[in-house]
Amino acid sequence: MLDEKRVALIGAGVMAETIAAGLVRSKLVSPGNITVSHYRPERLTEIRAALPVQTTTDNRLAYDESDIALLCVRPQAMASLLSELDSQVIPQKLLISIAAGLPIRFYDARLGSRVPFVRAMPTFFGRIKAGTTGLSLNAETTAEHLALASQLFATISENVVVLPEHEIDAFTTFGSTTTATIYLLLDALITAGSLVGLRHQASHTRAIEQVIAAARNVEASDISPAQLLEEICTPGGVTVEGVKVLEERAARGAAIDAILAAMERARTLAKEAEA
Ligand SMILES: NC(=O)c1ccc[n+]([C@@H]2O[C@H](COP(=O)([O-])OP(=O)(O)OC[C@H]3O[C@@H](n4cnc5c(N)ncnc54)[C@H](OP(=O)(O)O)[C@@H]3O)[C@@H](O)[C@H]2O)c1
Repeated sequence: MLDEKRVALIGAGVMAETIAAGLVRSKLVSPGNITVSHYRPERLTEIRAALPVQTTTDNRLAYDESDIALLCVRPQAMASLLSELDSQVIPQKLLISIAAGLPIRFYDARLGSRVPFVRAMPTFFGRIKAGTTGLSLNAETTAEHLALASQLFATISENVVVLPEHEIDAFTTFGSTTTATIYLLLDALITAGSLVGLRHQASHTRAIEQVIAAARNVEASDISPAQLLEEICTPGGVTVEGVKVLEERAARGAAIDAILAAMERARTLAKEAEA
């Protein structure tokens, strides 16, 4: 299984480093069998300082010497990366892309459909091994390929699920935008805490505590978030004044529109990449 495989991570950005770190931490793959490639040597120096993995500036070499290759570049760079690899893509290797938006047909068209290919959307919480990774598979993947991909992403995720490809953009944009919304809100709430007189550290700690407790309370309740909101708003009390401002500023509509905009962007990325 995975312990016998050589893994290449091509494009050493934030996600490649997170996945490489998960693999190293898990001890499932020996660091000698993990290669990270990037065109900038300085970036590889940073990676080597953080992780005991192999590095190269040659994407083709990394691909060539791997059993499983993960394509970790941005969607806009994918066509050019695939043109570097296409002459040597062979069916014996498993190819995995983590790029948002790009459909499997984009890869099949460039690589030939005989290549086992997984379109993955990793968890956004790889550093703490939380959240869910979604996988969609092309027709060439076998149960063994699925087991390998699942084992690999289980090193950075709490759950790994297989999704029909038509669901993966919604899975991605919902996951990324809900996370971004919470980060943005937390940042604002920490500032607000300071404005009402909390010390900065107290504001930081309490804002996180409140978000975690609120989410856990929804999880543990039989009633909806809307009903919980009603419960916390004592008539004539202080909280309802705050909620009135949130409604006047259309906070609810903004959160919904943010997810719809992210979904639209995923569609545009796919169209631009295929054009
Ligand atoms: N960030 C997330 O939470 C997240 C979650 C799930 C999936 N994703 C997907 O994961 C992919 C990477 O995202 P990221 O956030 O890690 O982005 P990132 O930090 O920008 O990483 C992409 C890396 O690829 C490098 N690169 C570009 N062209 C290359 C080439 N031809 N050969 C080798 N390396 C090349 C870039 O270098 P330069 O910067 O020097 O150009 C950059 O370091 C994206 O496709 C994204 O859709 C991201």
